[in-house]
Amino acid sequence: MTSKTILNETISFVQNDNLQDRVKDFFEAKSSAFHPFGPAAEMIDDLHWGMVYGFGAIFILVLVLTIMSLLSKRWQKIPRPPLGDSMFIMIGGLILPLLVLFPLLIETLFVTKELQPKKDSMVIRLTGHMWWWEVEYPDHGIISANELIIPAGVPIKLEMTSADVIHSFWAPSLSGKTDLIPGQKTYHWLEASKVGSYRAQCAEFCGLQHARMALLVIAKEPKEFEDWVKARVSPPPPPTEGVLAQGLNAFMESGCAECHSIRGTAARGKIGPDLTHIGSRSSLGAGVLPNTFGSLAGWVANPQALKPGNKMPASYIKAEDYHPLITYLMGLE
Ligand code: CUA
Repeated sequence: MTSKTILNETISFVQNDNLQDRVKDFFEAKSSAFHPFGPAAEMIDDLHWGMVYGFGAIFILVLVLTIMSLLSKRWQKIPRPPLGDSMFIMIGGLILPLLVLFPLLIETLFVTKELQPKKDSMVIRLTGHMWWWEVEYPDHGIISANELIIPAGVPIKLEMTSADVIHSFWAPSLSGKTDLIPGQKTYHWLEASKVGSYRAQCAEFCGLQHARMALLVIAKEPKEFEDWVKARVSPPPPPTEGVLAQGLNAFMESGCAECHSIRGTAARGKIGPDLTHIGSRSSLGAGVLPNTFGSLAGWVANPQALKPGNKMPASYIKAEDYHPLITYLMGLE
């Protein structure tokens, strides 16, 4: 294929690229525990504000009593607190803390129990890797990475584990934290009440790129979610001609397939993220960059410059194969 044809096909791909739609979720993702968008996060938020108001009131009471005692020593005229000493210690040191801490204990235990996954939830498996997330929908046979597409308003049970060290899943707008532990399964209730994108972050130090281990949770209308599933159950047939076929060929010959899978092709690598639908994801490298033609090209050329220490080495791809490879990958929607 001539380099002019490759260039023209690449340009037309970039011009037709639905860039705005794709990267929107990456830039608009919400991530604040103070703005809950799911029932689990609301419970945690309520508990938190209960503590802030309750402890704030006690703090002010203690301050007032302290000031009163300081002043009463200085100017004997100001009356002492109206209780006898032993009674004051009994009430202030025993009864009051019990009245405050016991209901708090009950409330905390209740919320902790309520935060367990709901029965009849949809199960999604999440595996932590240094430093990315493997996502599997066991009921639908879909495998993806770094993006968790869920139906809004539907309770999800995350079944989690880790392939290497301890990681922790935390989507502050949606729910609390749960660790992902190697050799063990942990469970997490995830539910978004509104359509939108929410940023989750690894919340347990797991090595050099711990801070760059993000995951986007994208909640869609249930109907849209069904369409999303349908579009992914059977992978598209591999291209047989043109720039895309050249791209797939470069993928197979340059060693990419040793680590990555693309369903429907002979690429079956398991070390890195599954790339069957990489073109539809909104971020690259677990939230490092928005997924655009340019950033994918930069990532393939030198991933160590963008995320030092990750397992992907720099690729040595023939110059004439470069644009076809990136065009092929970005076309995998
Ligand atoms: Cu994974 Cu921190």
